[in-house]
Amino acid sequence: MDRLTILRPDDWHLHLRDGAMLKAVLPETARDFARAIIMPNLVPPVIRGQDAAAYRERILAALPDGMSFEPLMTLYLTEDTDADDVAKAAGSGLIKAVKLYPAGATTNSASGVRDFQKVEPVLERMAEIGLPLCVHGEVTDPEIDIFDREAVFIDRALDPIRRRHPNLKVVMEHITTSEGVAYIGETEKNLAGTITTHHLIINRNHILVGGIKPHYYCLPVAKRESHRLALRKAATSGDRRYFLGTDSAPHTDALKEHACGCAGVFSATNTMSCLAHVFEEENALDRLEAFASRNGPALYGLPTNPETLTLEKQSDPVKFPAKIETGDGPVTVFDPGFDLYWRVI
Ligand code: DOR
Ligand code: ZN
Repeated sequence: MDRLTILRPDDWHLHLRDGAMLKAVLPETARDFARAIIMPNLVPPVIRGQDAAAYRERILAALPDGMSFEPLMTLYLTEDTDADDVAKAAGSGLIKAVKLYPAGATTNSASGVRDFQKVEPVLERMAEIGLPLCVHGEVTDPEIDIFDREAVFIDRALDPIRRRHPNLKVVMEHITTSEGVAYIGETEKNLAGTITTHHLIINRNHILVGGIKPHYYCLPVAKRESHRLALRKAATSGDRRYFLGTDSAPHTDALKEHACGCAGVFSATNTMSCLAHVFEEENALDRLEAFASRNGPALYGLPTNPETLTLEKQSDPVKFPAKIETGDGPVTVFDPGFDLYWRVI
């Protein structure tokens, strides 16, 4: 097969930032994707409905003429979040999810949740109104090894939340472990997981062997090879519970190539080419549409996109820029470490 047409995909986990960075990275996503769930971890974070409405306007204003793209907004859950404000923003259609960051887990998560009891009323209301909770699933306990933080989060935090709120729809975002895959796989209702492009391609050796590679560092950090293989199996299975959330997260090179480098992989530019490559390797090109275009809308109760996207396999490698220029400085594009032949036409 050298040509593949699928329903136009969506990205169910995306960082667009703001200002000059937003302007530079938005076209990279809007070129291939119809919609994306927009992460609210700005500085300051997108906490109230009015913040999300203003951010949405800034995104639409940054969209180049002739491109169409629908930002699906989220709110950043804090211990002071007002359940009425959440319900109002959801009722008007403005927001599609609320994002839970355990405080300190990742970039701009300082305003996140320390005491899960404090957000119980909001979770209760979300369960009532059918608003999904997107979860950054890592514990922050300094005693817990960084490579175990996702698995421990499932036992200590996620499973208890789901038992208290069986009707709450939960998206476990950017899963990186076989434990994450298994937990979702054994659950019939109200739980799904997103998987990034880069976690299908790199394991922790890519970050650490032969010199440290800051552009492969993200959170949750890539794990050992057996986990990558479990993620590949889940993503290419067609199972409705797994779908694409790139977690494309731009940081300037100056902040990545640093003594204390930021977490985030910027993959918006070549994600569809990378995914076609991975799905072809797994003999699963016929399931790329489920992963990138069908399973996400089904979980969020949204229609699939009416348009299509076509990928073509060329005989010569596709040329992608190594970096994109932004008003804040260059941002390195994810390097899968092999040539890509599939091109969006
Ligand atoms: O690698 C990451 N980058 N993981 C996150 O959870 C946040 C993101 C960011 O905002 O840069
Ligand atoms: Zn993210």
